[in-house]
Amino acid sequence: MLFPSKRSIWAVGAILWVLGLAAPRPTEAFTTVAARHGMVVSGEPIASRVGVEILKAGGNAVDAAVAVGFALAVTHPFAGNLGGGGFMLIRLANGRSTFIDYREEAPGAATPTMYLDAHGNIVPGLSTVGALSVGVPGTVAGFALAEKDYGRLGLKAVMQPAIRLAEQGFPVSYWLSRSLKLHAALLSKFSETRRIYLRNGNFYRPGEIFRQPELARTLKMIADRGPQAFYRGPIARQIVATMRKYHGIITLKDLAAYRAIVRKPLRGNFRGYNILTAPSPSSGGVALVEMLNILAPLHLGPPNSYESIHLIAEAMRRAYADRAAYLGDTDFVSVPIAGLISPAYAAKLRQEILHSPPDAPIHAGNPLPFEHPNTTHISVVDSAGNAVSNTFTLNNGYGSGVTVLKAGFLLNDEMDDFTSKPGAPNMYGLIQSQANAIAPRKRPLSCMTPTIVTRSGKLRLVLGSPGGSTIMNTVLQVLLNVLVYKMDIREAVTAPRFHDQWMPDKLYLERWGFSADTVSRLKAAGYKIAFRGPMGECEAIEVDPKTGWKFGAADPRSNGRAVGY
Ligand code: GLY
Repeated sequence: MLFPSKRSIWAVGAILWVLGLAAPRPTEAFTTVAARHGMVVSGEPIASRVGVEILKAGGNAVDAAVAVGFALAVTHPFAGNLGGGGFMLIRLANGRSTFIDYREEAPGAATPTMYLDAHGNIVPGLSTVGALSVGVPGTVAGFALAEKDYGRLGLKAVMQPAIRLAEQGFPVSYWLSRSLKLHAALLSKFSETRRIYLRNGNFYRPGEIFRQPELARTLKMIADRGPQAFYRGPIARQIVATMRKYHGIITLKDLAAYRAIVRKPLRGNFRGYNILTAPSPSSGGVALVEMLNILAPLHLGPPNSYESIHLIAEAMRRAYADRAAYLGDTDFVSVPIAGLISPAYAAKLRQEILHSPPDAPIHAGNPLPFEHPNTTHISVVDSAGNAVSNTFTLNNGYGSGVTVLKAGFLLNDEMDDFTSKPGAPNMYGLIQSQANAIAPRKRPLSCMTPTIVTRSGKLRLVLGSPGGSTIMNTVLQVLLNVLVYKMDIREAVTAPRFHDQWMPDKLYLERWGFSADTVSRLKAAGYKIAFRGPMGECEAIEVDPKTGWKFGAADPRSNGRAVGY
């Protein structure tokens, strides 16, 4: 029989189906990954596997997070980095928690008007592209401090996978190949960057091996000599040589003065859950707690219904209006944080939401009377229950576009997160105040919101996201999806998202996620709807408090991966 009959095709199909061979198999990225021991979720699969390799070798969650962070600097140059900065939130199995702020810092010669022309207008691109947009990098100091104080294996050991990946290379994924091509305009601006990431125009194709010998050398120097190599040694000198070539202002003194800072995590409560999140210089934690406080007693309606979107968007708008008015680096300016996160202030805002028409114009509130005293995320939980939530960034994808000469890593453009001019939007459209004005050694306001949730002392959730100004709204929605709507972690991370940041006055909806009826009601209520592509890339872990099993979900909006064992 040359051609099988329709009946025999059905019969074979049925047998395969019963055997499970023909069943549609979800890809790993779309499945909740369950693990008894440890779980690592990051924005890139090779890096996630590095984390599990370290856990299996006896490392704890901090060892794994640091190893994943260095691996991302090799495999995910879009946001993984040595030349950027970020925040690491750590909660140990014994309940102790800490927050390592390794945000970039303004150089000593930075001034509040450095991005303005003689007429006081912003010079386009000056704070986002090139050496003048670079803040003093914090990643190496932050990872080294985390590893020294909380790691088990030591910096040299946890850096080996990254060194191996840089030296021997790794196969370029479809996503990396596409991303490098998409960002060719920025990556072509600087010859070192063009040579390394674009092979001078001979773009990397999926499956080709990407080797980075200069980066491997840099990583080895840090592994052998510690962060001193970066901040006072040969790498510092290369950074300064790069600054000289491209008219940047970071000096050897700036690098030598840089310190990662240990801070207390910001704390909040939501319906019996304890929220640990990012303090200043992030605005993300303050906004997240303010929004959760507003929403806690409200009946939110079904997920992504008109009722829920309206209430949550109104909370978002108020938190972002307050962000614009008040927030800046608390080491430099006084910020009414206790007021902003006070339940009494939230109650006032809630009444305003309930008693004003939808989308009524709003301004920053007055928290003072209540005053008492393209980024990437890694979530890790180890077998003992230690947890790390780490978000770090170059700011824009591929940062400033500048690669440090002979050192093989990109530098950030984090200076754009400062207020270049009060009232003028930054690259995320965020309006900011004098509180976030540029000053030497000050840290720019961030939206990064690494977060950990516990209940009755037990670890429940570890999560965070990239996404610039959308970050805290992504974290908020994933939290609400789990804590209010009882979605499992994969559903919570996958569900469509919306975003309102007060200014511009728009309610952004992910393009495919919302029913036509809901959109019509939102429009009729006065919301100015704008559709957009995927928002955020939440990498999350949920822990079953009874069994200790870990459930990991990488955001299907990206090439992230959950890997457990
Ligand atoms: N650069 C993005 C942020 O820190 O919010």
